[in-house]
Amino acid sequence: MEHVEEIVIVGAGIAGLATALGLHRKGVKSLVLESFPSIRTSGYAIGTWTNAWRALDALGIGNKIREQHILVERFKALSPSSGAILGEGKLEEIEGKIGKIEIRCVRRKFLLETLAQELPQDTIRYSSKVVLIEEEGDLKLLHLADGSVIKAKVLIGGDGINSIVGKYLGLKKPSLTGRLAVRGFAEYPTNHGFKPEFIQINGQGFRFGMSPSTEKSIYWYFAWYSSENDIDESTTKTGELIVRKLSNSKAPNEIIEVIQKSEMDQMLPSPLKFRTPFSLIFGNITKRNICVIGDAFHPMTPDLGQGGCIALEDSVILSRCLSEAVRQGKIEEGLEKFAKIRRWRCAKVVLIAYIVGFIQQSGNWFMSFLREKMLAGIMAGALFMVANYDCGEV
Ligand SMILES: Cc1cc2nc3c(=O)[nH]c(=O)nc-3n(C[C@H](O)[C@H](O)[C@H](O)COP(=O)(O)OP(=O)(O)OC[C@H]3O[C@@H](n4cnc5c(N)ncnc54)[C@H](O)[C@@H]3O)c2cc1C
Ligand SMILES: *[C@@H]1O[C@H](CO)[C@@H](O)[C@H](O)[C@H]1NC(C)=O
Repeated sequence: MEHVEEIVIVGAGIAGLATALGLHRKGVKSLVLESFPSIRTSGYAIGTWTNAWRALDALGIGNKIREQHILVERFKALSPSSGAILGEGKLEEIEGKIGKIEIRCVRRKFLLETLAQELPQDTIRYSSKVVLIEEEGDLKLLHLADGSVIKAKVLIGGDGINSIVGKYLGLKKPSLTGRLAVRGFAEYPTNHGFKPEFIQINGQGFRFGMSPSTEKSIYWYFAWYSSENDIDESTTKTGELIVRKLSNSKAPNEIIEVIQKSEMDQMLPSPLKFRTPFSLIFGNITKRNICVIGDAFHPMTPDLGQGGCIALEDSVILSRCLSEAVRQGKIEEGLEKFAKIRRWRCAKVVLIAYIVGFIQQSGNWFMSFLREKMLAGIMAGALFMVANYDCGEV
């Protein structure tokens, strides 16, 4: 008899691996197909918020990852016109008002490797790029780039922003924002000396954020409204552009030194894209035995630092819904339940991320005025509110 896989997950990113692990915790086997020959870790690190820690705890790997990363204790916003401190605070003090806050900057490689290590040996198949999806009765036929075909009873798309599964479901292509972003990572031979503090500069047409990841490493990102030729610029030019924009807004020297110390090889700007909340609410994010998770489902602008965190929420909730569905033999209902729980939550987060990005980065003088005078507090409130979500157990 021919071999048919029960559950196939496309993509071994945060969403795909976390879902495979959630299912494994429930005793359900899955196969993960990854186009890359190994774990793919572009982007260095992610800001990992309270909602993500709840998901990682539910998956049983929270403490292992906590131990290796610094807890962010404070935040600070610097004025883009003078470099002076616009606002700062202790997260502990905000916790008193809104409940637990936990933020760390987790290295992607460590996160993905930890997820992968917990999976049974034969779960991930690397160098397996899905190039075509077809139907054969109730089964999905996945054609791989090497010519082989895998048959699946359930298909999950964790294949990121250019998802082939999303395309198969008829989801619209993500929209462009006119903004570009670069991420960087600076590693030090000994302690870098920065406090466990998240620093933000919201300038005219750009946004910068930075936080220590470990005692010896710092993660940062820089997003800006681009002109056409920014994309073609070489990585050294991008580094220079960032240093120039930060120097013009009087950023302290020690921050500029962090950029100059960072690895330059991955400093290629990528265009920021998002899926409109409208298409998340009304689009077909699931159809019978298929669904999408993570960036394949809800690509968003990085203004809340939540894309990966929300992907972890997806994974825990999908594992719960799908494992129950498998037990009862009601796959379609299980996936619909997942979609029902996730649609509004994700649409809301995508929308808030977009608005926060728009306000914080706007070059408009009136917006800049508001931003400097009064919006900083409201913006910070939005960040904590979004992170205050509990996805429950797997
Ligand atoms: C500038 C920037 C800053 C960010 N900062 C944060 C942050 O601070 N906190 C946070 O939580 N998130 C952040 N994000 C968002 C985060 O990076 C994403 O939301 C997250 O990586 C999504 O994970 P994923 O598993 O859904 O997709 P991906 O990480 O894109 O993984 C998809 C995987 O699928 C594989 N794949 C794709 N197509 C196929 C195919 N056809 N066949 C087989 N395999 C395939 C890919 O190789 C890849 O390994 C940021 C994003 C940007 C751009
Ligand atoms: C969702 O799928 C149904 C049935 O396949 C289709 O009729 C409908 O147009 C789709 N909706 C969207 C928004 O694509």
